[in-house]
Amino acid sequence: MTTRILPTDGEHLASSLLAAATLLREGKLVAFPTETVYGLGANALDEAAVRRVYEVKGRPLDNPMIVHVHDQAQARELMQVVPAYFEELVNEYWPGPLTLIVTHNAAVPDVVTAGLATVAVRLPDHRITRELLRQAGVPVAAPSANVSGRPSPTDARTVYDDLQGRIEAVLDGGSCHVGIESTVLDLTSAVPTILRPGTVTREDLEDVLQTHVAEAGADAARPLSPGMKYRHYAPRADLLVLPLRDDVAMREALTEAIAVSAASGRRVGLLAPERFRGCGEHTFSSLRDGTSVDYARHLYAGLRALDDAGVEVMYCPAIESVGIGTAVMNRLGKAGRVVG
Ligand code: TXA
Ligand code: MG
Repeated sequence: MTTRILPTDGEHLASSLLAAATLLREGKLVAFPTETVYGLGANALDEAAVRRVYEVKGRPLDNPMIVHVHDQAQARELMQVVPAYFEELVNEYWPGPLTLIVTHNAAVPDVVTAGLATVAVRLPDHRITRELLRQAGVPVAAPSANVSGRPSPTDARTVYDDLQGRIEAVLDGGSCHVGIESTVLDLTSAVPTILRPGTVTREDLEDVLQTHVAEAGADAARPLSPGMKYRHYAPRADLLVLPLRDDVAMREALTEAIAVSAASGRRVGLLAPERFRGCGEHTFSSLRDGTSVDYARHLYAGLRALDDAGVEVMYCPAIESVGIGTAVMNRLGKAGRVVG
C-alpha cells in the first residue's frame, strides 16, 4: 500500500479534505493533525477499521481509544448519561486539549473502549481537522499516530516515517502547537479525576468547576488510565533527566554528565533550553526559552531529532512539576529516568 500525503495549503485543501473524509467513511485509516499531536483515525463505528488501528500501531488491545467528534452534539450521541460537570467543561474547553471519560451507549463498539463501560471523547482545536470530522460525518477513533511505545508525532513527516505503507493517508497540517497529548479527565468517578496530565491543568479545572479535582497518579487507590501502564513516549537512546536546580548548578551538572558519557565513547545529545547550549561536546536540540509551554511543544520532536542524529544517550534538565510542568515531567519520566 502507498501512503498518500495530503497537503492542506491553499488550492489543495478542499480536495485533500474530501479525499480524507471519503477514506474515513470507507473504513480506511487516515492520520490527521490536532493541536496536541497527530492522531491515527478510523471510523469509530466500524469495528474492522478500528481493529486495524491497533494492528498497525502494534497497540495492546486492552488500551482504549479516544473518539474525536466535530461538535458537542456528536459527543452526546455516544453517551449513556451526561455526567456532572460535562456541560461546564465543554463550554470552557472545547474545542481544546481536554478529553472526557463518560459512560457510553450501544452505539460505541467494544473494540474502541477495550470493553469498558466508558468512552473517551474529545473535540480537537484544529480548524482543518474539525472540517475533516464534519465532512466524514462519523465519530473518529484515534490514538496518537506513532508506532506504540515511540514518542507521539507532532508533524506529518514523522507520522509518515513511522507508518508509511501501513495506512492510506496522512493529512499534512503542519506542526502541532501544543506538542503533548490532551489531559484525560474521568467524569464517571465520584470526584473528577485526571488520568493523564496535559496542558489543561488541575488548577485550571478546579478554577472552572469550583471543586476538588483528583490526580490518579497521586492516589494509588484509583487505577490509572489503561494506557498509562505501558512504556511510552520513549526514544531509542537512553534519556536521562537531571533533577531541578538553579541555572548555574544545572550547567555544571550537564557539563559533567556529558563529559563522563563522552569519555566512555557514547554519542551524546542534549535536549534543553537555549541557555544550556554548549555544555560540552554534544548534539543539541532546543527547548527554546524553557517555559513549560516550550518544553511541551518541542519535547517529542526533540527526542526524535536526537534519535535521528544517532545519539546513544541524551540529557534533559527537569522543570518544576507545577501547572503544565506536571504534564511535561510526566512524559519525561515515562520516556526516560531521573538521575542523580
Ligand atoms: O491529544 C490526544 O489525546 C491525542 C490526539 C490524537 O487526540 N490522542 C492520544 O491518544 O493521545 P492515545 O490513544 O495515545 O491516548 C489515549 C489515552 C490512553 O492513555 C488511554 O488508555 C486513555 O486515553 N483512555 C481511552 N479511553 C479510556 C477510557 N474509557 N477510560 C480510561 N482511559 C481511557
Ligand atoms: Mg499515544
